[in-house]
Amino acid sequence: MAGGFGAATGGKEFEAKITTLVIISCIMAATGGLMFGYDVGISGGVTSMPEFLKEFFPVVYKNQQIPGLAGNYCKYDNQGLQLFTSSLYLAALISTFFASYTTKTLGRKITMLIAGNLFLVGTAFNAAAVNLPMLIVGRLLLGCGVGFANQAIPLFLSEIAPTRIRGALNILFQLNITIGILVANLINYGTAKLAHGYGWRISLGLAGIPALLLTVGSLMVVDTPNSLIARGKLEEGKAILRRIRGADNVDPEYSEIVEASRAAAEVKNPFQNLLKRRNRPTLVIAIMMQIFQQFTGINAIMFYAPVLFQTLGFKSDASLYSAVITGLVNVLSTLVSVVFVDKAGRRMLLIEAGVQMFLSQMGVAIVMGLKVKDHSNNLGHGLGVLVLVFVCSFVASFAWSWGPLGWLIPSETFAVEARSAGQSVAVSTNMLFTFVIAQAFLSMLCHMKFGIFIFFSGWVLVMTLFAIFFIPETKNIPIDEMNDQVWKKHWYWKRYMDDFQDGPNGKYPQV
Ligand code: BGC
Repeated sequence: MAGGFGAATGGKEFEAKITTLVIISCIMAATGGLMFGYDVGISGGVTSMPEFLKEFFPVVYKNQQIPGLAGNYCKYDNQGLQLFTSSLYLAALISTFFASYTTKTLGRKITMLIAGNLFLVGTAFNAAAVNLPMLIVGRLLLGCGVGFANQAIPLFLSEIAPTRIRGALNILFQLNITIGILVANLINYGTAKLAHGYGWRISLGLAGIPALLLTVGSLMVVDTPNSLIARGKLEEGKAILRRIRGADNVDPEYSEIVEASRAAAEVKNPFQNLLKRRNRPTLVIAIMMQIFQQFTGINAIMFYAPVLFQTLGFKSDASLYSAVITGLVNVLSTLVSVVFVDKAGRRMLLIEAGVQMFLSQMGVAIVMGLKVKDHSNNLGHGLGVLVLVFVCSFVASFAWSWGPLGWLIPSETFAVEARSAGQSVAVSTNMLFTFVIAQAFLSMLCHMKFGIFIFFSGWVLVMTLFAIFFIPETKNIPIDEMNDQVWKKHWYWKRYMDDFQDGPNGKYPQV
């Protein structure tokens, strides 16, 4: 995820060292991504802990205790349980729009500070929860934190990073999301074993560590030059630009930021501007990529892996163990995309992964369809391992394709004047569909049974065709040359570029 009108470089390379300040910004990325990933990963393990269920979801607990009562596929189907997971994304979705405002008016630094504080309060509510409302309020606060963090941190990163490492930093954010998920799985694995049944409190409470790091980190960093300049603090912006670049002569980059801010300032209503014809290809792709990313079904696995593996007949311990394996595969496969994204290209990764995800999901559906019945489960050790292999293959292919690229492609394709608003539309669409999947998955599993994996594989087919026909290759194309080099040449999207006029210096569209 990246964005921000100041990220424009026009393909030029400015003088820039990798300074300590830039390294601190990487640590910021780590904590922001970790925080988000931790939230994604923690709920699945917690909701499969008997003590947690006994305290907050006694009905689910009862269903779980009486074998055969609700059947394999339905024992976790409970709206409240799904709301525990999904409420976070609902809050994130709404707060993204507020975050878009604070990011613009108060700056990236303050917005990250707000995010850190929201996370801290949310974590306190969760770890201390004595009833369901307290638990949900905590999740909502965490969600607001995610909304603020996911809007501000990518902008902050892309603006502070020297051009030549911006792409890598972009995927680094996703890498840290996956590390957050893995850490959450590991912690759940440990806390599930604790006697006295307060393990879930530790799991939820440990979210305070990345939250604290983000809060302290945001106090330590400077705001980006782009943000300062856009808010009229020209001298301060220039001084900071010198510090972060470790160079005295930053005039070329400074002028470009001033010019980009000027072009962006002319846009009176950023969201209306987004609807202009020339922004249609990027807007459609950004929205569709978020919907598709979630309809791969990835979060069905990320949120509910332990629950899913229990449905498959793994014992509680074994299922958390399997979730740790998928978590590790997720991290390692994201590294694959870091290496290949600028070599093999975006389209190659999306299309290869489409085929692999389709086959893996069909594999899971077939094994489950044949072996996991409502009230019997003869999955046996061998087939259990086979399902795990299919799930890992699915997670791996997601992690080098729709995971990082779902964020990268929208962020690198929006024109400079539409980038900030485009970012919030991308984040909120993502959160909306993450919410939908989180809220619906356990009920869908109950009603569609193994068919749920056929459902997701159908979506994978559609998105792969979409990638083939509608997602252009953007590797190695300077961020401000997309109009000429990509959209105007694309067999379909070129028809939308007729209202694009060259800007004053040939790079920015007329507003
Ligand atoms: C998605 C998350 C998902 C994660 C899994 C991210 O790109 O936005 O919804 O949980 O990848 O690694």
